[in-house]
Amino acid sequence: MKEYIQRALLEHSDGYVTGSALCKKFGVTRAAVWKVMEELRAEGWQIEAVSGKGYRLKNETAAALSKVLIEARLEHSMWNRLVVLDKVDSTNTYLKRLAEEEAEEGTAVVALRQTQGRGRRGRNWASNPGGIYLSFLFQPQPAIPLEQVPVMSLAVAMAAYKAILQVANVQTGIKWPNDVIYKGRKLCGILSELCGGVDTGIYCVAGIGVNVEKSVIPEELQEHAVSLEEITGSVLDKNELSAQILKEMEWEYRNLDTCVQRYAEICVTVGKEVSVIGAAEEFKGTAIGVAGSGGLIVRKEDGTETVVSSGEVSVRGIYGYV
Ligand code: BTN
Repeated sequence: MKEYIQRALLEHSDGYVTGSALCKKFGVTRAAVWKVMEELRAEGWQIEAVSGKGYRLKNETAAALSKVLIEARLEHSMWNRLVVLDKVDSTNTYLKRLAEEEAEEGTAVVALRQTQGRGRRGRNWASNPGGIYLSFLFQPQPAIPLEQVPVMSLAVAMAAYKAILQVANVQTGIKWPNDVIYKGRKLCGILSELCGGVDTGIYCVAGIGVNVEKSVIPEELQEHAVSLEEITGSVLDKNELSAQILKEMEWEYRNLDTCVQRYAEICVTVGKEVSVIGAAEEFKGTAIGVAGSGGLIVRKEDGTETVVSSGEVSVRGIYGYV
């Protein structure tokens, strides 16, 4: 009933949904309908009740993260199973568990906070309320060739970059391979993981964490991280941003063959002096492009060129975080 009421409110956002129609539809009392409205209000839905008219959604953007509000923006999309959670250990871990059970390509998870958010290189990812934590499951048939897997993670960065431009009108940059940054500070982090085996087949789980509100960034990270609230001065609608990321992600996935070329034009690491820190060696050079594999092409100081793969190294811009 709650989901039906959410949809009814959305569909009639320019008018009223009558209490009597809802009572009739579900064979419940007015008090039962009122209880659902109260629940929605507690979740952040601004619902006006006018006697003789009914209920009306006053301001859609104020609503909390909602499956209905996200799906309302996704028509005919590949995301046929969207799970929206208030709290989860990690959206990537959750999706991996689902995939081991029965989930398939087209499943996505969005959460408002994570208790064990994971970052690259086994680090933690601080995941307080105030961010969006979103993961996708990809299980293409036929499987993506292994050497193409790093391109998937560039595509995820492209999706976040484009969605932020579209919804927040903020021009960010992508630091190779997939940090979305603004003026040298990190706005989104992306973790792509290749998983599976004989039973499940190979699949890829990719997750994005977006710093939406200022409060999401712990004190000690403020020098290196930034939020959309700090950049724009307002708190964005998380449903709209989630939906746009899902849309852009689908587009990028379907256009993976042109991803590297488009990515290379945006990647702020290209053209910069970089310091490559790998397990076996460390060197300085200039990033001169992005290879078809998604690796960074670096011209070393001796003039030789090498392709650096994201799994192996950490690339630090010599001047600052970029
Ligand atoms: C990084 O180290 O920059 C990557 C951070 C990735 C964080 C996202 S939040 C959603 C998804 N779930 C996780 O546990 N991690 C990723």
